[in-house]
Amino acid sequence: MIIFVAYYFTMKVGILGGGQLGRMLLQAAANYTVETYVLENDKNCPAAHLCHHFVKGDIKDFNTVYQFGKKLDALTIEIESVNVEALEKLESEGVKIYPKPSAIRIIKNKIKQKLFYQLHEIPSSDFIVTKNLKDLAKHTSFLPAVHKIAEGGYDGKGVQLITTEKLIKKGFNAPAILEKLVNIKKEIAVIVAMNDKRETVVYPPAEMIFDPVLNLLDYQISPAKIPQKIFWKAEAIAKNLVQELQSPGLFAVELFVDENEHIWVNETAPRVHNSGHHTIEANYCSQYDMLWRIMLQYPLGNSNAIMPSAIVNILGEEGYSGPAQYQGLDDVLQMENVFVHLYGKAETKPGRKMGHVTILHKDYGALVHQAQTVKAILKVIA
Ligand SMILES: Nc1ncnc2c1ncn2[C@@H]1O[C@H](COP(=O)(O)OP(=O)(O)OP(=O)(O)O)[C@@H](O)[C@H]1O
Ligand SMILES: [Mg+2]
Repeated sequence: MIIFVAYYFTMKVGILGGGQLGRMLLQAAANYTVETYVLENDKNCPAAHLCHHFVKGDIKDFNTVYQFGKKLDALTIEIESVNVEALEKLESEGVKIYPKPSAIRIIKNKIKQKLFYQLHEIPSSDFIVTKNLKDLAKHTSFLPAVHKIAEGGYDGKGVQLITTEKLIKKGFNAPAILEKLVNIKKEIAVIVAMNDKRETVVYPPAEMIFDPVLNLLDYQISPAKIPQKIFWKAEAIAKNLVQELQSPGLFAVELFVDENEHIWVNETAPRVHNSGHHTIEANYCSQYDMLWRIMLQYPLGNSNAIMPSAIVNILGEEGYSGPAQYQGLDDVLQMENVFVHLYGKAETKPGRKMGHVTILHKDYGALVHQAQTVKAILKVIA
């Protein structure tokens, strides 16, 4: 008699970075058989207690990343400022990296990213590479433009609007790109997932609504309220971009729609993204679940929206620093179709991302109204 024995081997998967994106990725991992590892410097980071194995260390250090990855089957990132050389070595030794280090290398540097768009004829605004401030000063005829530092910028910190010659001094004295100012009508983001077989799924575009006074993200709605033609075009551009990157993984493509309804790629994130938080409750398969399906070699999920949704970020209130307290939380928790996510950060400071709230409603007017209500009542103080 022949007895067939099925060997179920549990994959060991690591995440570089332990912030809120890693935390939500681990929440989705709990539905699968997978042993999870996190590498991060701060042992009290949002993802630390949700993984099986927490390793304290610097994600930018070659040896730390290499030693961390060596014993794993697969690795992913929740931030792109990681040691790519170590990932390349791990990849050459058979560890699966999502996305491929070659894609991280392109995206992590804004000069390389823009050259990649140019090479593959992906619509993105014109640009000039600048080495330093002296170099930047030579390009006054290119203004108005936006100066973006090649590496190390985040949350808009590596971006400077330069409208006139007088503002040149506000630019970066480091390698950067000077990008033509786009007359933005809408900012949207499209998440694309690709598996090892190069099959793709695309999420409906999400739309960022900015506060015109503070120039900060007010809230986000999804699917974006844009004409069907633009909707499809944005999805096609994002999908094509990811196919050109030739890497499995999950990517978020940020796009601008200008006044003539032309679409321009702003930038790409090679990982789960803040513009996809709503997919946890609002889409059949969340961006986090989708990335696990890819890494664990399961079929891709359904990216469609179950219902329109809004995301409101919970940010540290101006003027408060210290142990976080959530004012108005009880009221928000009692709202219908409202889902609160707190990231478990003990300390608040002005503008720090402490959590987000997702709102579901079939009516866009009601969504916007509820988003404004949540913003008005929920405050992080100390
Ligand atoms: N070429 C441009 N024309 C007009 N506005 C721009 C341009 N490039 C960037 N911006 C504005 O600056 C914002 C931040 O730019 P970008 O996304 O490149 O930087 P970032 O540091 O990655 O920011 P974030 O982390 O918030 O996404 C954009 O969302 C957009 O509002
Ligand atoms: Mg951006």
